[in-house]
Amino acid sequence: MIVCHCQNITDRDIDAAIDWMRAADDSTIITPGKIYRALGKTADCGGCMPLFLSTMRRNDNMEVPAPLRSLRVGKAKEFNYERRQEGH
Ligand code: FES
Repeated sequence: MIVCHCQNITDRDIDAAIDWMRAADDSTIITPGKIYRALGKTADCGGCMPLFLSTMRRNDNMEVPAPLRSLRVGKAKEFNYERRQEGH
């Protein structure tokens, strides 16, 4: 099924991009912009965003990475990983 008509992106393209990103980095935050970039495309009109997002949410790899789940309950200090270098 075509999700984005401007860029001819299907639900399979979105699933493949999500699975690829999750396999490459299990702690990455996946956004529509990252999916467009992974597919080598850019959003045009944005009219597909509601369907694009619902297609993303159906993918099993869209869950929040385990280390980031504790941030909402105030455990952010326990998890001190922001990809900053130690000397910064
Ligand atoms: S339909 Fe997806 S950007 Fe226009």
